[in-house]
Amino acid sequence: MKLLMTAALALAAAGAAPAQTIEARLTVAQEAAGPRIEPTVYGHFVEHLGSGVYGGLWVGPESDIPNTRGWRNDVVQSLRRIGVPVMRWPGGCFADDYDWRDGIGDPAQRPKRPNRWWGGVDTNRVGTHEFMDLAEQLGSEAYIAGNMGSMPPRAMSQWLEYMTADSNSTLADERRRNGRDKPWKLKYFGVGNESWGCGGNMRAEFQADMHKRYATFLSAPDLVRVASGDGQGDDRLVDVLMERAGWQMEAFTLHYYTMPMEGQKKLPALGFDTVAWAKTLKNALGIEDRIVAVSRIMDKHDAAKRVALYVDEWGTWFEGEPGKSALYQQSSLRDAMVAALSFNVFHRHTDRVKMANIAQMVNVLQALALTDGPRMVLTPTYHVFDLYQPFKGATPLAAKLDAPRWRSGDVELPSVETSVARAADGSTLLALVNLDPARPARVATNLKGQASGRMLTAATMDAHNTFAQPRAVVPAPYTARAGAQGLVLDVPPKTIVVVSVR
Ligand code: AHR
Repeated sequence: MKLLMTAALALAAAGAAPAQTIEARLTVAQEAAGPRIEPTVYGHFVEHLGSGVYGGLWVGPESDIPNTRGWRNDVVQSLRRIGVPVMRWPGGCFADDYDWRDGIGDPAQRPKRPNRWWGGVDTNRVGTHEFMDLAEQLGSEAYIAGNMGSMPPRAMSQWLEYMTADSNSTLADERRRNGRDKPWKLKYFGVGNESWGCGGNMRAEFQADMHKRYATFLSAPDLVRVASGDGQGDDRLVDVLMERAGWQMEAFTLHYYTMPMEGQKKLPALGFDTVAWAKTLKNALGIEDRIVAVSRIMDKHDAAKRVALYVDEWGTWFEGEPGKSALYQQSSLRDAMVAALSFNVFHRHTDRVKMANIAQMVNVLQALALTDGPRMVLTPTYHVFDLYQPFKGATPLAAKLDAPRWRSGDVELPSVETSVARAADGSTLLALVNLDPARPARVATNLKGQASGRMLTAATMDAHNTFAQPRAVVPAPYTARAGAQGLVLDVPPKTIVVVSVR
């Protein structure tokens, strides 16, 4: 009785009108469908853009907003709860116009530079030492994006030396004088960003040569040199870079934004109809086609899969909010669906996809937290990162989902989407996403045992959290029920469920 009540209450909470139920069948096989899900696919991206750093994360040690050495405690504590495995910084486009020397030494003496891409002036108050302090506060690996577009290779290699040298070199001593005795542990170093665009408008052949030249001078123990890759659906670029420079990189990147348009105009983040909902989710699922296409080209040059694919920018990109900082947008239940679908896709391609970084952490694009002065609110996207935490390090399992498709306007989509994995403790993890905004789904499975976890849903497609109503979209407990042949999950419309089966 209690279990039946759970689903009924869930439907009521989702405000579902009585509608025909989607009947789906999930068959889970016990064999692994790929290598483990690297925790770093739950990574982040932080750029000097709008209030992504200044205001959103950094308030300065002198601020009344509670902070630890300048980084705001509310945001840091929230992020620590979901675990931040890796964080990419300082850009984005910003990276290829950034001189790392501007951000070290006495903060009062640091130069102020125009932020070429995102407007305003960067005070350089946040530089290498501050960022690495944030990484340590979060327990995160640092992923530094180096400047290939507008600085010589020597500048890039010296930044690496400054951070990682344990010798008595002049740069290591300078770091010590600036307050950091021990070298930092740095695992990831990006060689430029979007070199086909804001990173220098290079031809693929030119970029391949540039990459080799810069990568030659990057050496630190176990360093992953990340080549700037595709962001425009350009197969040729992938081919040229992998063929000519693949041997001098350990990772290659893909940028994929869910940016639904109407003509030349981006769609709004809130106040949309079912067609826009469907269009956005379809657009989000398109990331899988791109991963497949890029992986296929990579396979041609790297059959052993030595070079990893990092989706180091992904997320929704809607029309910005007037009067707010650059690329500030609200994040609704629809964004949460995009996040869940993206994670399901990443789990299906663990042979190549070893890292993904949501764009961006705070106040920019598909943010996990929004701030306004001292106030902070966590978005539905944050809660998806939370729900999916058990998948970090789990092994994906082969699963077959038979579910009808649904249509909205001329968009056709799966009605239900899934990911299944085996956790280190032996339990089976199951994520189900009901994409249909109106109809509940009943998913009959061959899984045995007891399944409990959480779900994320709301009454409207654009439900979101605000400073006044921070708990409009938050996870609720969820329990599956036993059916004749296995567990049955009743998933309300527009809902994400993650359970652990024991
Ligand atoms: O995330 C915003 C921008 O999108 C990044 O700076 C750039 O790399 C991409 O085009």
